[in-house]
Amino acid sequence: MTTRRAFLAGGVALASSTAVPVAAWAGAQGKTLLEAKEGTAQIAPAGYARTAIWGYDGGVPGPEIRLRQGDRLQRTFLNGLPQPSTVHWHGLRIDNAMDGVPGLTQQAVQPGQTFDYSFTAPDAGTYWYHAHERSTEQVARGLYGPLIVEEPEQPDVDREEVLVLDDWLLNPETAQLDPDFMARHDRSHAGRRGNLIVTNGQYDLSIPARRHERFRLRLINAANARIFELGLAGFEGWVLAEDGMPLAAPRKIADTFLLGPGQRMDLFVDVVAEAGDMAHLVHVVDGEGLAQVSFPVQRDNSRTRRAPPTALPANPAMEISGLETAQTARLHMEGGAMGRLQTAVLDGKERTFRQLAQANQFWSFNGTVGMTDTPLVAVDKGRAVRLEIFNDTVFPHAMHLHGMHFREVMTDGQFGPLRDTLLMFGGQTREIAFMADNPGDWLFHCHMLGHAASGMMTWVRVAA
Ligand code: C2O
Ligand code: CU
Repeated sequence: MTTRRAFLAGGVALASSTAVPVAAWAGAQGKTLLEAKEGTAQIAPAGYARTAIWGYDGGVPGPEIRLRQGDRLQRTFLNGLPQPSTVHWHGLRIDNAMDGVPGLTQQAVQPGQTFDYSFTAPDAGTYWYHAHERSTEQVARGLYGPLIVEEPEQPDVDREEVLVLDDWLLNPETAQLDPDFMARHDRSHAGRRGNLIVTNGQYDLSIPARRHERFRLRLINAANARIFELGLAGFEGWVLAEDGMPLAAPRKIADTFLLGPGQRMDLFVDVVAEAGDMAHLVHVVDGEGLAQVSFPVQRDNSRTRRAPPTALPANPAMEISGLETAQTARLHMEGGAMGRLQTAVLDGKERTFRQLAQANQFWSFNGTVGMTDTPLVAVDKGRAVRLEIFNDTVFPHAMHLHGMHFREVMTDGQFGPLRDTLLMFGGQTREIAFMADNPGDWLFHCHMLGHAASGMMTWVRVAA
């Protein structure tokens, strides 16, 4: 057993030697590395070349990070890329300093450098981590992974599958990524969308199943811009949680459902297909159902149909109160192709839409393109905030708030489920409310990553 004295002596030895490699240093500190680096993956079908990717620990998706609710996550991020990078822990209510937003919560980590991420995970649920520097490029190259926080007591399911959905824009000859990550057309329209749809990095993922088995499917949409319309075939299913947060009661799946970029969904699904048949997670494209994931059903007579699931336990301190005296704000989203935006402020100067387009910028929030020095909302800790959002564009957007979950305030005054990413369609006005209970500067942006990079980004300051 290492005594404290021996440990200290070891520390002295380390400090006095100058050229300790980073990995060795991190290992010596008992920390776990998470390294962003180049790699390859067989994303295109067999017979095609492997695709050059950037991935955490060299793979895509990156390693699954799994911990128990209330446990501490510690990773020394090592940037082995030729570009600066950071890691953002999407959906976790953590310390602002750990949120991974370059220029807002930390300096970008330079190539060859490290950053220690360390925080406790207050909420059980399905989350993910991804690069937050030049994310249009870095996430498209594969820098993302699942982050699972387990409930203190495991819910009653037979199996669990984490399914990370993405689409890759590959050259069909070479199977390599289209390198135009800043493409004007993508930025000004619906974002960068791929031509090869995958789950967990595979285009034809197949998971053997048995009749009457109950799966927990943890769906994560890691795509740059694609909204997945999904459905079930050969399953009976319920939505148990959205964006990590349990619904008050499971919602039976009767139709297709949407999963916007950045969003997650926890489903419980029971296999009802017969042995020898297939069950599917279905991806609906232009009204046609395609297999997103196949579940060949094997013979097994040992199981019987289960009772419908009950709700997952709620996460702590999620009540929204004081709505009557809430601080209010409004967000007017404009721009994009076929939009009405005439002029907006970029870098402190009023510009025409044409001038903005020349700068490869297309979207404005309250008349300003991109981040500003002043937050959209500055609020004291503990207050409720009501934010009305008007999507005055012809495109959908997936608005993501860092650091806090919100609820939609429905037109009848009722609350919608807790979310961290709100999918909004063109022309819609929606209202969200949240408790400003997490101090710090929090980004609020469109998770169609090309939109964020071409104007759709603002922030919220919660005073301590
Ligand atoms: Cu999932 Cu600001 O990001
Ligand atoms: Cu958008």
